This record gives sequence, structure tokens and C-alpha cells, in this order.
Amino acid sequence: MAKEIVPGLAGIPVAHSGVSFIDGDQGILEYRGIPIQTLLEEKQCNYLEVAYLLFNGVFPAADELQHWNTLIGRYRILDAETVAVLAALPKGGHPMHALTAAIATLGMLYAAKDQGEPSGRYRTMARLLGQLPSLVAAFHRLRNNLEVLPPKDELDHAGNFLWMLRGKLPTELERKVLDTVFIVHADHTLNASTFAARVTASTLSDLYLAIASAVAALNGPLHGGATQATLLQLRSIGSKAQVGAWVDAILAKKEKIMGLGHRVYKVKDPRAPILERLAEKLFAEQGAHPLYEVAMELERVAKAKLGYKGIYPNVDFFSGLVYDKLGIPVDLFIPMFAIGRIAGWLAHLREQLEDNHLYRPEQIYTGSHNQSYVPIDKRGKQAKTVWSNL
Ligand code: ACO
Repeated sequence: MAKEIVPGLAGIPVAHSGVSFIDGDQGILEYRGIPIQTLLEEKQCNYLEVAYLLFNGVFPAADELQHWNTLIGRYRILDAETVAVLAALPKGGHPMHALTAAIATLGMLYAAKDQGEPSGRYRTMARLLGQLPSLVAAFHRLRNNLEVLPPKDELDHAGNFLWMLRGKLPTELERKVLDTVFIVHADHTLNASTFAARVTASTLSDLYLAIASAVAALNGPLHGGATQATLLQLRSIGSKAQVGAWVDAILAKKEKIMGLGHRVYKVKDPRAPILERLAEKLFAEQGAHPLYEVAMELERVAKAKLGYKGIYPNVDFFSGLVYDKLGIPVDLFIPMFAIGRIAGWLAHLREQLEDNHLYRPEQIYTGSHNQSYVPIDKRGKQAKTVWSNL
């Protein structure tokens, strides 16, 4: 029987995982079997507790949580060599490139050292989880010629990020909103970046490079880049009155509206209403975002025109508005996603390494066989190659 490829491996299981579960038809997202709504609305747990749950499969007891918070807090502090590398990076470069370089720097400093220690793998995981927000905040401050701020013990993960980025203590609501954004991004089964991390780790490469692979895969507009694209799109629409005509024009050109639709969810993304409610609270405290009305109108018009196709707002529809209101610049939106998602990446890496199999899919060869070498004076000149104009 002829072999066939499955483009993008869609629908092909390649790993067992107990980290998270999605049902796209019913709009279910569970972390370790717990619905995302239960985690956020009833239990009021915070991001580091969720990260612990994702790694270990169970919630920490009170003393374990205290130890976990202290451990991650310790790794939040950047060392001087890492700060020096961040300071030397081109200021105009994209923060995702900076983040990849920073993670590679941590690998240069610590990969060999960690590997030589008992429980070194878990030390690396704790270091990466703790350092990611500090790396993003430090690069942002350095590119703006501002001093790098150390974390504060009294603040949690989200609160520390806002403090280290803006140099201003967050309000309780700002902290809570960002903490929730990190939680809703913490894991989402075997998406492209998680798969990239698992593939790299499956070669027994180190965890720094596995996370750098995940960061690189997250960067694209088909994955982590959608939040940024959604906010820019809302800005380009400009006003509520223009939404209807704008949607008609986009659909006539058969283009996609950013922030709508999902490869898996065919009902509203369960993360979207959570972020929508938080956005409303934030706007009530700090004044409405000027584009909130545009977003609401876009959701209404899109529902009428695309709802029958199962196209509804996804998590990115509201997160950009929230970030913007929190004073987070647009080019940090993808790094924000990485700060949340690293919990899931690390939980998957733990699974990968505890039952490792090298990923080595097959190809279907489409080239020729048994060709002969053509001496240089016998070769015909190609009319134009992709390199001709370089
Ligand atoms: N705007 C307008 N129409 C859409 C959209 C959209 N955002 N998404 C899908 N459709 C339409 C398609 O044109 C198609 O119409 P047709 O049946 O008439 O040809 C139909 O809905 C089904 O679409 P598919 O492309 O099959 O949906 P798929 O599941 O392959 O795509 C995807 C999902 C890639 C996310 C798509 O909806 C999209 O590009 N959305 C915009 C980008 C975005 O917001 N991405 C973030 C995803 S969430 C995340 O990564 C965290």
C-alpha cells in the first residue's frame, strides 16, 4: 500500500501526555483533569501553583507551595553575565530573538553545571521557569536605557514581572489579571512549540536548547504571533462604526480576521470569556481601552457572519487589549505567551525525558536516483535562480 503523508501531522498522535486535555467541540480545556474555569473561578490559585500542578500532576501542600515559591523566587534573580549579554544585544531587535539568545546564554552558563548535579534536570526547570519573566523585563529596560530592576520577595510571579518591566508596583487587579493570563496560556496539549521542545529534548540535547526551540517555534504568526496581529488589526479598524464595512471587505478578499477561529475549538475558546471578564474588570478600574468597543462590535458582527462555520473569538482576541492596558508594548506580546507557556513546555519535557523516544518521522522521497556527476563545462546555465539577485 502506498504511503501517504499527513500534512502537519494533523490528527496523528505522537506522544502520551497527562498534562492537559482539549475537547474542541465542547469547548473544554483541562489541566491535569481540572477544567480551566474551576482553576480560575472557584479555586483562585495562582500561576506558580498551576505550574507545580502541571509538572507534578498534583497541587502542592501548603509547605510544598511555600518551598516552591521560594525556589522559583531565587531563580528570578539574573546574574551579571546574563545581564551583560542582554545589554550587548541590538536594541532594535525583536524581543523573541533576544529571549532565544538569553536562554542560550543560560545554557552556556549552567547546562553543564546542572547536568553534573543530582536532580540537575529539575534545577534547570526551576531556573528556566523563574528566569523567563526577568529576562524579558530586563531586555525591555535595557533597550530603553533603563536600569534592570531586581525582583521583590513580596510580589508573586505576575506581580514581579510587572514591577521589573515598568518599575511601578502593580495594583492587585493588574497582578491578578496578568496571573490569569499566564494561567490560561500555561498549556494547550501538543501544539507546535511544545512539539518543537519535545523533538529537541528527544535527542537528549539539554533543556535550555529544548526551550529555545520552543520559543523559536512560538514566534510565528500561525502560533504565538496572533495576539500582536489582533491588536494591530483593531487599531487599523479604528472605530466601532467602521467594523461592519471592514469585516465585509476582509471576507470578500477571503482573508482571515485575527483573533477568531481555532484549529481545535469549533465553539468559543473557553479561555476567551475568562479573559473578556477580566478585561472588563480592568477597564472598570482604569478606564476603558479605546479599542474595546471596536472589539465588542467585531465579535458581534463576526458571530453573525461566521458563527455558523464554528468561528468564534479565541484566547488572543482579548489578551492583546489586556496587555495594552497594562502598558506592555506590542512586541512583548509573544514573549508574554512564552512566559505563560513555559510551565506546559517544561511539564511536557519531563514526560518526554521520563519515557524518551527519539522523534524520527519518515519522508516520502520525491527526487531521482542514480544520477551522474556533470563536469562544470557541460552544465547548462539556469535562466534565473533564487540567488541571482542577491
Ligand atoms: N476569519 C475569517 N474566516 C475564518 C477565520 C477567520 N479568522 N478562520 C477560519 N475562517 C473560515 C475559513 O476561511 C473557512 O471558510 P470556508 O469553509 O468558507 O473555506 C472556515 O472558516 C474554516 O476555516 P479553516 O481554515 O478550516 O479553520 P482552521 O481550523 O484550519 O484554522 C486558524 C484555524 C488557523 C486558527 C484560523 O481560524 C485563523 O487563521 N485564525 C486567525 C489567526 C488567529 O487568530 N490565530 C490564533 C489561533 S489561537 C492560538 O494560537 C493561541
